Amino acid sequence: MIEENNNKCTSSNGSDSVVERAAATTEQKFTVRPIRADDADRIYDYFQSFSERTKHFFMPHAIDRAFAEKLANEDRLDPNTNRFVAVTCSGNREIVVGYVFFWNWTKRVPWLGIGVRDGFQSRGLGSLMMRYAVDTALAYKKGGILLTTLQDNIRAQGLYRKFGYEIIGRDMRDEFLLILNFPDKNIGATSL
Ligand SMILES: CC(C)(COP(=O)(O)OP(=O)(O)OC[C@H]1O[C@@H](n2cnc3c(N)ncnc32)[C@H](O)[C@@H]1OP(=O)(O)O)[C@@H](O)C(=O)NCCC(=O)NCCS
Repeated sequence: MIEENNNKCTSSNGSDSVVERAAATTEQKFTVRPIRADDADRIYDYFQSFSERTKHFFMPHAIDRAFAEKLANEDRLDPNTNRFVAVTCSGNREIVVGYVFFWNWTKRVPWLGIGVRDGFQSRGLGSLMMRYAVDTALAYKKGGILLTTLQDNIRAQGLYRKFGYEIIGRDMRDEFLLILNFPDKNIGATSL
């Protein structure tokens, strides 16, 4: 169910733009929004919450303080990336509970990465963020989305399969390579 997030702790600017949405997948409300300039602390807190299992599966980039700062600053202004966080209230503060991003955003088929905070996994949040990411890519008329995942990441593969991603091979690290192909009515049933 998609609905407005009325949490008092959220520092949302109240925008009703397509880039900010909220959902209640449980009792708790989550908002997906673009990364902001004041997010470095929240993102670093999210990185620090990673269990060993999540570290094993989520490894597209560094998860240190310097990278959190970079995400909130120069990377946020880089047209070749497009990154979003899912946030919720914890007490009276907003915490990051999920992160989804595109690389090669200026290309027709960008790459996607996704992660959900430990303790919030398997509650529909990955699906919420993937829906958001797919809708964003469609709104920007992308041709599809590429990603890779470890062969033993069964949960992630369940998420990707649910959204229609197909395994099309393996990359140099022997990870599965998947694509979600957006049909293009001008080209035919499949655009890629
Ligand atoms: C993979 C990840 C992003 C999925 O997000 P999530 O919020 O846990 O997933 P959801 O609750 O939305 O579930 C989506 C689908 O995943 C699968 N899934 C979820 N929990 C599962 C579990 N415990 N066991 C097996 N499959 C599971 C199901 O197919 C589910 O669809 P369904 O609910 O319709 O059956 C999240 O678990 C995560 O961050 N894991 C650690 C980091 C990681 O693996 N990132 C991806 C790297 S490629």
